[in-house]
Amino acid sequence: MIFSRIIGTGSYFPEKVITNSDLEKIVDTTDEWITTRTGMHTRHVSERDEMTSDMALKASLRAIEAAGIKAEEIDGIFVTTVTPDYAFPSTACLLQSKLGIVGAFAMDLEAACTGYIYAQNLANALIKIGQCKTILIASAERLTKMTDYTDRGTCILFGDGAAATIIQATEEPYGILSTNMSADGSFGELLHMKGIGSVMLANRDVMKVEDNLIKMAGNEVFKVAVRMMVDASTKAIADSGLTNADIDFVIPHQANMRIIEAVMKRSGIDPDKALINIRKHGNTSSVTIPSALDEAVREGKVKRGHNVLMTAFGGGFTWGAAVVKM
Ligand code: UT7
Repeated sequence: MIFSRIIGTGSYFPEKVITNSDLEKIVDTTDEWITTRTGMHTRHVSERDEMTSDMALKASLRAIEAAGIKAEEIDGIFVTTVTPDYAFPSTACLLQSKLGIVGAFAMDLEAACTGYIYAQNLANALIKIGQCKTILIASAERLTKMTDYTDRGTCILFGDGAAATIIQATEEPYGILSTNMSADGSFGELLHMKGIGSVMLANRDVMKVEDNLIKMAGNEVFKVAVRMMVDASTKAIADSGLTNADIDFVIPHQANMRIIEAVMKRSGIDPDKALINIRKHGNTSSVTIPSALDEAVREGKVKRGHNVLMTAFGGGFTWGAAVVKM
């Protein structure tokens, strides 16, 4: 039987940050409101000429090094992002070229904040049917360039960054034990950015700047997010054949500290098992889970044999979860 195992992780965040006190100068907000309502303190900001593919490359090189493989061994690349460099070619193709490899399939996967869970699920399937042996998932987001810095309800949330994982076929009983992914497109309007698509066309004077910015009905998203992350987590744990007590760590999507607390409480899992990096990085969409994983691996917290539950929720709406034996 073939399993898909995470053999290397890497992440990258730009040096520049926006602090809560910076935000106090831009919109009508306070450090106290942001801290208590979101758990965020800083978010990273990419340079004007630092593109999504550049950040994806930095994280990927770190993951490749950690995995101890050569880039040439990669036979598939998923880039998860809502901020591709271009409509096409895909950011995955740009990344493949920057890595100096050819032949591996390369495609962008857009499932908003759930992108990493979706990509992991598909990588697992491709490995299990024997089509691929080594897949790179690079999650990279440049959200600060799509953020409306006049909207205090959203501009406090988003940051830039990238994180990558290498997933490889193994015959050992490790890796992705269970995974699920779901969507409900009827909620699309509650969290969207219309700019990169065929409806809004800049060259025909149809697109306004505001069409290129993230819009979110935060409170409504909040409620559905908690419910769906709990459902997806419960299913992933049941499908893995484990129980809550067997889960060593939980990596929830980092959208809001209060969402994380609610998910842990309603899932009935010890809240101390949650790995949280929201304070430093804010909401980086599909980057939050793989970056928290990379940090925990590098800190020596998450080790071989640990059972890690991952769960995400995002625009679409999309959601999903996975249980991974490291
Ligand atoms: O990653 C993809 C999925 N995304 C999410 O899951 C995000 C989910 N949503 C959230 O994280 C939260 O809903 C927010 C952080 C966006 C907002 O927190 P909230 O507790 O839901 O606040 P709210 O939208 O219900 O607003 C409560 C009050 C309002 O004032 P009034 O109408 O009660 O006077 C807002 O205008 O808080 C006000 N408010 C702010 N006040 C100070 C909203 N943003 C701010 C702010 N500073 N930055």
